[in-house]
Amino acid sequence: MDKIVIEGGRALNGRVPASGAKNAALPLLFACLLTDKPCRLRGVPNVADIRTTRELLQTLGATVEEAGPHELIIDCAGVEEAEAPYDLVRKMRASFLALGPLVARFGRGRVSKPGGCAIGTRPIDMHLAGLRCLGAKIEETHGYVEAVAKRLQGGHFIAEMPSVGATENVMLAAVLAEGHTRIENAAREPEVVDLASALGKMGAKIEGAGSSIIEIEGVDALGGYDHQVIPDRIEAGTYLIGAAMTGGEVRVDGARADDLAMLVECLEAAGAVVTWDDGGVTVRAQDRPRAVDIVTAPHPGFPTDLQAQWMALMALSDGRACIEERIFENRFMHVPELARMGAKIASSGGEAVVTGCESLSGAPVMATDLRASVSLVLAGLAASGTTEVLRVYHLDRGYERIEEKLGALGARIRRVPV
Ligand code: EPZ
Repeated sequence: MDKIVIEGGRALNGRVPASGAKNAALPLLFACLLTDKPCRLRGVPNVADIRTTRELLQTLGATVEEAGPHELIIDCAGVEEAEAPYDLVRKMRASFLALGPLVARFGRGRVSKPGGCAIGTRPIDMHLAGLRCLGAKIEETHGYVEAVAKRLQGGHFIAEMPSVGATENVMLAAVLAEGHTRIENAAREPEVVDLASALGKMGAKIEGAGSSIIEIEGVDALGGYDHQVIPDRIEAGTYLIGAAMTGGEVRVDGARADDLAMLVECLEAAGAVVTWDDGGVTVRAQDRPRAVDIVTAPHPGFPTDLQAQWMALMALSDGRACIEERIFENRFMHVPELARMGAKIASSGGEAVVTGCESLSGAPVMATDLRASVSLVLAGLAASGTTEVLRVYHLDRGYERIEEKLGALGARIRRVPV
């Protein structure tokens, strides 16, 4: 178990490349289960969740070979065992995305229930409701979900809320169903659009991805894809917020301003200068950040995955900011850790009020989940003195080479084995 040690008080300046989006690459890997043809995926981030997914696909009988840095060839021709075991699914709830493609291609899928995680109970009721709309018979026994259907039938699924995972699971099933499927209240995240783009390359017939209504015409079989993962908007947003926090100027190469429109708006409201072109997005800090309220919401609203990072920025603001977390029920675990660094935050339920301070002070802090961990790293970069972030395995789930990337921007940061 490593820790990250940061000597704070230095501005971040320079350029950093965005990695491929973890939350796009994961469903793209599970999409390979839909075909017996090989798929080539480029721009795959080298993070723990990807390694877990490779292991799961191999457990199911697939081969996953490295074709170069950040490039995988996935071949699911050999997939037989349609069961995703608990010890892998519990490590990463996105493994539940195996269920849709397994039942679509083999008529049966058995996946362990993902269970909750630090940020919430993370139910799967909408995933199951969607598969039932396609005619799957669902049984939940012994901690597993089994979905069975001789052949899935196109259906009309109205999601209770725009769940990213449920939208993706239903898409991954409907593409091989017989007939037409309409998904209403679909998630609009860029990662959903990227999945639809790759499925289209496989021969799927999908319209409307990125809007609330997705229409799918099922086909009998799918081919492989050669696809480049979109850049990681959450990683990019994290580094851009870091620039605003430390008083520097950072360009994230590859970042797409359209994916980050709400964050850009908030950063500008906080006083940062944001510019962008086809090749990336740049943030230049001006003075001390102004206090700006946020409410997390499904895309294109403020991303819940940037809420903790925004809170760290607001801890240094010149006023008082309200932060409402409306997506997950327990996504404020960074609050007590930021408070250890001097942040003034009063939170109750899904609401937090952050009263900005002139500065933060470095301290040993504990990572609890992926995005909370990175908010502590950002706070450590801006704080005076030394910050030690423990349990950085949380960070490694979603940030590739974070200490290298931040070090290249001028941070004094190192990973120390504990
Ligand atoms: C995806 O999770 C992301 N993960 C999350 O990123 C992200 O925070 C989330 O979308 C919201 O944007 C991946 O893409 C791998 P949801 P997902 O279904 O699909 C509730 C990160 O840090 N819900 O949109 O699980 C759920 O509990 C991770 O990279 C149900 O009630 O999110 C949550 O409150 C964290 N029933 C809300 O909906 C369901 O069947 C949104 O969840 C499904 C979800």
